Amino acid sequence: MVDNYFSRLQIPDEHRSVATNHEQGSYLYELARLTAAAKTLEVGLGFGSSAVYIMAATRLPHVVVDPWARSYRYAGLQNIAAEGFAGLVDHRERASQIELAELVRQQCTFDLIYVDGGHKFDETLVDVYFCAQLLAVGGHMVIDDLWMPGVRRVRDFILANREDLTQMPCPVEDFLHLRRTGYDTREWNHFVPF
Ligand SMILES: C[S@@+](CC[C@H](N)C(=O)[O-])C[C@H]1O[C@@H](n2cnc3c(N)ncnc32)[C@H](O)[C@@H]1O
Repeated sequence: MVDNYFSRLQIPDEHRSVATNHEQGSYLYELARLTAAAKTLEVGLGFGSSAVYIMAATRLPHVVVDPWARSYRYAGLQNIAAEGFAGLVDHRERASQIELAELVRQQCTFDLIYVDGGHKFDETLVDVYFCAQLLAVGGHMVIDDLWMPGVRRVRDFILANREDLTQMPCPVEDFLHLRRTGYDTREWNHFVPF
């Protein structure tokens, strides 16, 4: 049984619906555990809920990209510290479109990536574009908020155009779970309407 971290994290009522909840967190926890994920990354610290579930599963360093943590008075980092994971979190206080590109330049790879940052269509597409490059072959990527039309369009693009990313069955309604199952071998002019 996964601890119900969500129930005890300090999250203002008006923000509770945007934080990763216990059902979602449990999915990330089990995924990290079952796949023995060692290198993990997420976009969007928020209140630290998803980060806590991931680190609770791995007990290993976890990279979290979010430039706006200060505007939440670092509540996410405080929640992470309260759960005993301050020593594991590697918070990169830069926008994902910059930090993810830098991680690609450094040839970093990750076994599990959770995308829950900017939610506009183009923000999500850019995050997924870079995260796909950062994902080890065989690694897993979970994208939140499929209820949003912009995020669903990103899903449609991926499923129509990216044969290297395979959709995995997932009972969490708002999650898109992808596994990197190969390499991106598209021709330069490849495009499948979606
Ligand atoms: C829905 S919240 C994440 C919630 C988090 N998963 C949790 O469990 O508390 C979205 C977060 O994405 C961050 N964000 C927005 N644009 C971003 C960007 N370009 N790069 C990284 N993070 C971004 C926001 O600051 C916010 O903290």
